[in-house]
Amino acid sequence: MRKGILSIGAAAAALTLSLTACGGESGDTSAQSTDAAASAAPSKAAGKIGVILPDSKSSARWETADRKYLQEAFEAAGVEYDIQNAQGDKNQFQTIADQMITNGATVLMIVNLDSGTGKAVLDKAKSQGVATIDYDRLTLGGSAAYYVSFDNTQVGTLQGEGLVKCLTDKKADKPIIAELNGSPTDNNATLFKNGYDGVLQPKYDSGEYVKGPDQSVPDWDNAQAGTIFEQMLTQEPKIAGVLAANDGLGNAAIAVLKKQKLNGKVPVTGQDATVQGLQNILAGDQCMTVYKAIKKEADAAAQLAVALAKGEQPTASGSVKDSESGRDVPSVLLEPQAIFFDSVKDVVADGYVSKDELCVDEFAAKCTEAGIS
Ligand code: BGC
Repeated sequence: MRKGILSIGAAAAALTLSLTACGGESGDTSAQSTDAAASAAPSKAAGKIGVILPDSKSSARWETADRKYLQEAFEAAGVEYDIQNAQGDKNQFQTIADQMITNGATVLMIVNLDSGTGKAVLDKAKSQGVATIDYDRLTLGGSAAYYVSFDNTQVGTLQGEGLVKCLTDKKADKPIIAELNGSPTDNNATLFKNGYDGVLQPKYDSGEYVKGPDQSVPDWDNAQAGTIFEQMLTQEPKIAGVLAANDGLGNAAIAVLKKQKLNGKVPVTGQDATVQGLQNILAGDQCMTVYKAIKKEADAAAQLAVALAKGEQPTASGSVKDSESGRDVPSVLLEPQAIFFDSVKDVVADGYVSKDELCVDEFAAKCTEAGIS
C-alpha cells in the first residue's frame, strides 16, 4: 500500500471544511499515514482509499492525468491511498480489489472494465462494509454509493457538432460519415453515441449527410480500431467524415487515412485532449477533440472519497439514473469543452498539457500559429 503524506496546506483545509461531518469524533488516529502526520492531523482518523484504473492503452488519460491528479488530491488531504491499474484484465481487477480490502481499504473507487465485472467488485466491497465510488464510468446495475464523471451525452453532442462544423468549413456536399464508437461494454460509449447521433441522425434523415459504416471498437482497442477503419475505408472509399469516439480511435483512423493521402481532407473527431490528439489537430489531421478537465473530476472524486474515509456522509450535487436498475445514483457531473485548432491553447493554459511536450519538433511552428506562447 502506497502511503499518502499528510499535508495541512490550504487544499486539505478547504477540503475538510467543505464537507459535512456526519460521523462522530474519533480519537483513533492509527489509520493516518504516519505517526508524525497523525499528530498534525487537521481532522479525525481516515481510512484507506483504493482506486482501480482500467488500463493504460485505451487512452493516455488514465496514467498521465487521472493517476496524477488523484494522487495530488489524496496527498493534499493526508489520507492513505493505493492507486492501481488493472491493465484491461477483468480477473486482475477483482484480485486488486480483494487485496485492497484485505489491506484495509474502507473506500474503493473504480473505473469498471464492463458493468458485469464492475458490479461484482462493487457488490463484494459493499458486503464487506467498504464505501464505493464509480469513477468516470457508471456501472450499470451496480451498487456504487456515488458516481463522478462528465456529462457524457454532452461530450457526444460536442463531437457531433464539431464534426458538422469541420464539414461545413470544408463545404462538404452530402458527406458519407463513418462512426467509430467506443467499447460496447462501456456505458460512456453508449452516452457518447447518443450525443453524436442526436446531431447526426437528423442530417442522415434529411439527406444532408449519408450514413456510412458504424461500428464499435471492443475495449476501445486502438489497434483493432485501425483494422476496423481500414475495412470501412476499403468498403466505402468515399468516407468524408469520421466520428471517432476518442483521440486513440481517431489517431488509428488518421493513420489509415494517411496511407491513402486522405489525412487533413477527411475530418476526424476525438476526445481526451491527449498530446497526440492535440498534435493531430495542430497538424490539421484531426478536426477537434473534447477536453475534460480531469483535475476537476479527480478533485471531486477525491473529495467524496476522503469524506467517506473519515466516516462522513458527503452529499453529491446531483444524481444520475442507472438505466438498468432505475436507481438514482448520487453524482457529480462536470462540463466538457470542445477544442479546435484555435482553442488548443486553452488546454495548455489550463495546465493539462505543457507547451514543452506539445510543441516539439514540427509542432513548434504550429503552436506559434495557434497562439500557444
Ligand atoms: C472515458 C474516456 C476514455 C475511454 C477509453 C471512457 O470511459 O470517459 O475519456 O477515452 O473511456 O479509455
